[in-house]
Amino acid sequence: MEMPPFEDHVEKGEKLWKKTFRNGKNYSSCFSGNDKTIRTQFPRWDTVKSRVETLEQAIIDCRVKNGEKKIGSGKGRLAWISAYLTTIAEGQVINVIVPEGDAKALKAYKDGKKFFYSKRGQLNLSCANCHVDYAGRRIRGDILSPALGHTTHFPVWRGKWAKSKGDGFGTIQRRYGGCNKQVRAKPFKRHRKEYNNQVGS
Ligand code: HEC
Repeated sequence: MEMPPFEDHVEKGEKLWKKTFRNGKNYSSCFSGNDKTIRTQFPRWDTVKSRVETLEQAIIDCRVKNGEKKIGSGKGRLAWISAYLTTIAEGQVINVIVPEGDAKALKAYKDGKKFFYSKRGQLNLSCANCHVDYAGRRIRGDILSPALGHTTHFPVWRGKWAKSKGDGFGTIQRRYGGCNKQVRAKPFKRHRKEYNNQVGS
């Protein structure tokens, strides 16, 4: 963590978060509670829209609701803002809740679980094959991480994403796409049911 290469962008994320929209409102107005607790509230089940709501989707929705343009889907400014909120929430617990008695929420949870355990791609591997069955084992130069806790420390800065023109930042859904590609499967679109349900599981 000496001279972390990501600090500048987390600071940029803070500035963007605190910037007032053209209508005079700001991001905080879209969320409940202290800014430091926002990250811990996601992913969550949105009872009105009947879908899993991720933090990044909530940031995009907040902009659109206030007449601002969308800002990407898994990197750049969206990832910086999300990284800022994650940084100020450090040390707190993320507790994903499937509301009891809500059949749609339960279905989304089960769909996410099914996605995680389904084999795909030319290599015919599921997420669970690598991140459950082989967690802790080596795959070439990498040690496979356990799936438990994946959602807690994203967005991240990666050297791979910093090559060429990138700034290195990416959200968890960007990472999912990479893991799909690794097994030679076509990645799914970000912020759609497939990845959202999984983040919430
Ligand atoms: C062929 C094995 C393989 C499969 C299958 C696979 N991954 Fe990965 N995944 C990796 C490797 C290797 C890494 C980098 C090392 C690490 O952090 O685990 C990684 C990293 C990740 C990370 C980042 C972990 C971190 O803490 O930085 C997430 C999140 C992730 N994978 C999710 C998934 C999901 C979701 C799927 C299914 C769509 C999946 N992976 C399928 C090999 C795989």
